[in-house]
Amino acid sequence: MRSMNRHVLITGASSGIGAACARQFAALGCRLSLGARRLDRLREAFPNAHCDELDVTKSTSVERFVTAAIAANGPIDVLVNNAGLARGVEKIAEGTGEAWREMIETNVLGLLEMTRRVLPHMMQHKNGHIVVIGSIAGHKAYVGGGVYCGSKRALQPICEAIRMETLGSGIRVTSVDPGMVETEFSLVRFRGDQDRAAKVYDGTRPLTADDVADCVVFAATRPPHVNLDSIVVMPTDQASPQMVHRTVN
Ligand SMILES: NC(=O)c1ccc[n+]([C@@H]2O[C@H](COP(=O)([O-])OP(=O)(O)OC[C@H]3O[C@@H](n4cnc5c(N)ncnc54)[C@H](OP(=O)(O)O)[C@@H]3O)[C@@H](O)[C@H]2O)c1
Repeated sequence: MRSMNRHVLITGASSGIGAACARQFAALGCRLSLGARRLDRLREAFPNAHCDELDVTKSTSVERFVTAAIAANGPIDVLVNNAGLARGVEKIAEGTGEAWREMIETNVLGLLEMTRRVLPHMMQHKNGHIVVIGSIAGHKAYVGGGVYCGSKRALQPICEAIRMETLGSGIRVTSVDPGMVETEFSLVRFRGDQDRAAKVYDGTRPLTADDVADCVVFAATRPPHVNLDSIVVMPTDQASPQMVHRTVN
């Protein structure tokens, strides 16, 4: 079993992919700084980690979180920018500014805010790995997903620019772009409607959060001269965001 004594900071670790990453990095012996708005869930699941309240949409929360994480665990080696959400499936003509803002503020501006607080420390130490959880939604749009897809597409030039801007400093940037993963994602998207959320995964075999965490850990455990630019990972039963093979029950 590989082991690594590194400081890994994960946003949105109270559920789904972020929590799976936290479990896998913990198993490798990493020091963890975990953030989410639901601090109670973080503390219950990860009693041995540095858990702290974090709202990536609030600049003051991000600043406080990063400062406390460095004080607790030292320089950050790996940042997993995972916190994100889709809200609703309204077409553009029927959408609301509230849901659009929530997605863009979390998925794009939140990620930028977090990254800009962490990058200077990584550049100072000439070491660091930024992992971004994108989505196949950033590669292909679908009806009712325009703003979510746009928020994920935006991450691609952001990753490219960071690679260019940090060239020569030893910093790595990896985007992990999953297809359908069974997490609380659909419950959040459908505003707590459990039946509607369950239907998303009906009759098909989605990825698990651990399948995605496997990719994140694989990227983070390559030798320092190897940067995995992007990993696109899909369920075998999915060919595009809305093309999913389902067995009829
Ligand atoms: N599930 C999929 O099919 C899928 C596919 C492709 C990409 N993704 C991406 O994967 C990432 C993780 O999603 P998931 O599937 O694991 O969904 P999830 O189970 O709903 O987890 C989302 C996590 O993000 C956190 N979060 C949301 N808003 C936040 C904020 N303002 N500040 C801090 N944390 C926040 C949530 O924590 P709190 O609510 O406690 O703050 C939660 O821990 C997202 O970026 C999503 O877009 C998911």
